[in-house]
Amino acid sequence: MGIVAVVALLCALTLIVASGPGAQGGDVEAVWRQMFKRPGTPPPSPSDNPLNPEKIALGARLFADQRLSGGGKRACAGCHRPERAFTDGRRRALALSGAPLRRNTPSLWDLAWGKHFFWDGRASSLEEQVGMPIAEPQEMDGDWPTILSRLEGDEALVRQFRAAFPETPTISQDTIRMALASYVRSLVSPPTRFDAWIDGDVQALRPAETRGFGLFVGKAGCVLCHVGWRFTDDRFHDIGLRSSDGGRGAVAGGTPGLSAFKTPGLRELAHTAPYMHDGSLATLEAVVKHYTGGFVARPGLATHINRKLRLSGREKADLIAFLRTLSSETGPAHARRAGPD
Ligand code: HEC
Ligand code: HEC
Repeated sequence: MGIVAVVALLCALTLIVASGPGAQGGDVEAVWRQMFKRPGTPPPSPSDNPLNPEKIALGARLFADQRLSGGGKRACAGCHRPERAFTDGRRRALALSGAPLRRNTPSLWDLAWGKHFFWDGRASSLEEQVGMPIAEPQEMDGDWPTILSRLEGDEALVRQFRAAFPETPTISQDTIRMALASYVRSLVSPPTRFDAWIDGDVQALRPAETRGFGLFVGKAGCVLCHVGWRFTDDRFHDIGLRSSDGGRGAVAGGTPGLSAFKTPGLRELAHTAPYMHDGSLATLEAVVKHYTGGFVARPGLATHINRKLRLSGREKADLIAFLRTLSSETGPAHARRAGPD
């Protein structure tokens, strides 16, 4: 959706929200539904790596397998911990040496719909992305010949590869990457009360939460970037954090000198603190404080950040109450897995 269309919607939505929940006309409900409704099925997976349940199961197993690391002591799940919505709770991920790496471990929800991966978008497919932490000396320091020979010695695993890849039943760098990508692609955030509300259950959100939604799509302008049911435009912006990280500006496809980062989706947010590419904001309160004047207004600051946004104490609380409705209340263990499409 273009910026102009979004701005037009903002004006319409602000009026509607001002009139309170339940008072909405049918037309605008349809607009909200269109903007935020979950799609029924995941997008098709790449034609050379179709999703199947055996591949997802194999990928899940490899995700937790420390044999993919050089020292045999670190798995993907060591940083992307399923019980923490696939994050590690740290400001920045830990290198094998124990020193902090440069970025925060992101959650892995809804990436089947993603367009670029990593905070700076430097990987353009999941198949490409999942190989990178394995090879990265500071993350897993894996060496492919060693990994393959370790896994080939595991008969149960060999059988699982055969079931997942009947046409190419070998353990190879490609099949490992395809299985891991399939697993990541299967991680769909659980539906929440917000989804029930969007689907027409007006009781599903409390008044403070619907007021918060009104701010999100209205005065606070969050929806200019956090748009759609995943709450991301899949683009890169500089939101004025104090950070020496070059971000998108330092990779091919970015604007040199512009320290922009990928807009993260906001699903399961209540379980993924701390926030931002550098983990610099510890709580949602700190995030809202940032957007209400706490940022650095340097020349690269995204044009659709509202430099003058001020919210009252109650408005801030309402906005945060709304953000929390995007997270499951039962917690991350209840993650739903998408089946093959
Ligand atoms: C040392 C901790 C660590 C390990 C181990 C690790 N990751 Fe990550 N992962 C990160 C960090 C930090 C980032 C963000 C890095 C960046 O943006 O430059 C990331 C990013 C990602 C992304 C991109 C998410 C997005 O929103 O774009 C995916 C997918 C991912 N990791 C999957 C994996 C898989 C699969 C493995 C195992 C093969 C793995 N990770 C191992 C810390 C880790
Ligand atoms: C100009 C686009 C833009 C606007 C407007 C915007 N955001 Fe963001 N948001 C981003 C980007 C980009 C990031 C990641 C920034 C980084 O890490 O450097 C982000 C990060 C976040 C995060 C952290 C998520 C995580 O997993 O770490 C939250 C929460 C958030 N925004 C909420 C909001 C709220 C609430 C508003 C409205 C007050 C808002 N955003 C307005 C682009 C935007």
